[in-house]
Amino acid sequence: MSAQRGEFGSRFGFIMAAAGSAVGLGNIWGFPTQAASNGGAAFVLVYLVLAFLLAYPVLMAELTLGRHAHGNMIAALAKVSRNGTQRGIGTLVGIVGIFTASLILSFYAIVSGWMLGFGAAYPLAAMGASDTSTWLTTFGESRNLLLMLIFMALTMVVVAGGVEKGIERWSKRLMPAMIVTLVLLSGYVLTLDGASKGLAVYLIPDVSKILSTELVFNAMGAAFFSLSLGVGTMLIYGSYISDEEHLPTLGAQVALVDVGIAVLAGFLILPAMYVAAERGVMIFNDAGGLLSEDTLIFTVLPALFESMNESGTFLALAFFGLMSIAALTSSISMLEVPVSFLVERFNWGRTQAAFVATLIITLMSAAIVLNFDDLFGLVITVSTRFSQPLLGFALCIYAGWVWRRDSLLTELAQNEASGELTLFMKWWPLYARFVCPAIIALILLRSL
Ligand code: PFF
Repeated sequence: MSAQRGEFGSRFGFIMAAAGSAVGLGNIWGFPTQAASNGGAAFVLVYLVLAFLLAYPVLMAELTLGRHAHGNMIAALAKVSRNGTQRGIGTLVGIVGIFTASLILSFYAIVSGWMLGFGAAYPLAAMGASDTSTWLTTFGESRNLLLMLIFMALTMVVVAGGVEKGIERWSKRLMPAMIVTLVLLSGYVLTLDGASKGLAVYLIPDVSKILSTELVFNAMGAAFFSLSLGVGTMLIYGSYISDEEHLPTLGAQVALVDVGIAVLAGFLILPAMYVAAERGVMIFNDAGGLLSEDTLIFTVLPALFESMNESGTFLALAFFGLMSIAALTSSISMLEVPVSFLVERFNWGRTQAAFVATLIITLMSAAIVLNFDDLFGLVITVSTRFSQPLLGFALCIYAGWVWRRDSLLTELAQNEASGELTLFMKWWPLYARFVCPAIIALILLRSL
């Protein structure tokens, strides 16, 4: 069965693909400034603890369910269900998952298109095409539509290529390139005037904030979004892992890469902001906090690049190239959710499924572009603040309560060298049963 439905060809391939899904715009533009405005290293510490105590167990729920069923989220929840009601609710959860993955992709593709646009704008300007360059970097409906279309087309081409020849092959090429670029860029920026101030803001902990509930909840949301949890991307990637692999180790490696890159991005973004400040760029908002998110990426950093002449063009190309790659390896995992469903449920060919799913999501995305003020923020809030944690909650309930414990342990014990119950196998099922749902319920109640 597995040969027919696709499987990752190597352990490295899976780690690159899953880490590629996890590492995205969230890590690079969200995490560093969130850290800086929430107590610096104190936030980083809380984030690390939450990533391993909460997000990693939920990631394991997805990977284990997926590998057990070798199928999509609907199939996986049906497989562990013990009666018709559980199967029915599982189907509903799976459908909401597919819809949420599509919804996230519909806004993510717009922002990712901007990355492509900014990446192309600098070399174009250097070659004298300043009108095109200005068009690419100025907010507008036609620009937003065109760049989103290009980004969706790229995503479709990779996914249509298949699990091994598309997703795995491209993740193995793109992820190492992205990591090397990130390391080189941060290394360079750290040598510039002003960088050490940014480093201090990032690394000196403001311990008084460690106990603030605000900080803890922010860190938790960041960890969830960052590990792509809830919507079935990790579940479907888990379903392509061979039965020979040891899941707890693979999951830990993916989480480590994700967290590692978020932390590393802090060594680029914060020093870069203070380098910009040194050159007269405004980096604080009216309330005195650091500028973040889109203003950071599309105003502060471009102002920095412009202050640097030729090396600025080069840095801009490297930076927006890096962001585009991070975005693409995440978007292919989102598109894989509806595509795998169409392939498995209706026996469609991959190319046809990829085309139809892309078409539908592109239409959703176009609707957002055309009603930007009303829809953009709303779609982000609904899909990431509410839907993702709610789905994560449901997945923990299925892994912790619905799935029979002996069958769950058999799945986990596969490839366990000693054949005994390891620490992970003893604790994780209980954890997924009680602790994870309780914490997620708390976040949800709070965001209401
Ligand atoms: N983890 C991605 C990021 O940090 O940008 C975002 C993401 C990818 C969310 C895939 C959800 C998803 F299914």
